[in-house]
Amino acid sequence: MRKSCVKIILSLMMGSLTISGIAFAHGKEKHGKKVPVDARMKKLHAMMPMFSIASAELESALEKGDAAAAKVQADKILAEVLDLKRSKPHKNIKQRKRFVGLATELEQTVIATVDLAKTGNFSEAKTAFKKVEETCAACHAKFRD
Ligand code: HEC
Repeated sequence: MRKSCVKIILSLMMGSLTISGIAFAHGKEKHGKKVPVDARMKKLHAMMPMFSIASAELESALEKGDAAAAKVQADKILAEVLDLKRSKPHKNIKQRKRFVGLATELEQTVIATVDLAKTGNFSEAKTAFKKVEETCAACHAKFRD
């Protein structure tokens, strides 16, 4: 128990060192030079195409009224949310709280969608799914575009 606490604290410290390192590099660097992409950014890149596919398939499962298929796709997204919270965007990296908040919102809107599908209420599930898409877009507006 103790050991893992120490590990968490250490990794948090390392994380903030990395962030301030990059912020420093940003300030110093001239245009045209690439900011080094670290592991947590790579993770985010790797994750996003899956989000696109799973959310498209989730939407089509709702269209078809297939609650089981909707759950399969929702679970794919939910399985990555923790990693999403731990990953790091290129832009506005200091606004971590907002980033983690949007990842949490993604989680909640996906759960709400699949719960409605489970009850057979597909028209409300589709409305709930719109909020999922809005969350994708809100995060991209702030941290990607
Ligand atoms: C918490 C923030 C956040 C949420 C929520 C989010 N994304 Fe992203 N997404 C990003 C960021 C940041 C990038 C840019 C990645 C980069 O620059 O490394 C991105 C990039 C992408 C890309 C482009 C591929 C890439 O690696 O650049 C796609 C496609 C994508 N997201 C789809 C989605 C879909 C679909 C959803 C919703 C189901 C979603 N995202 C939810 C933050 C988010």
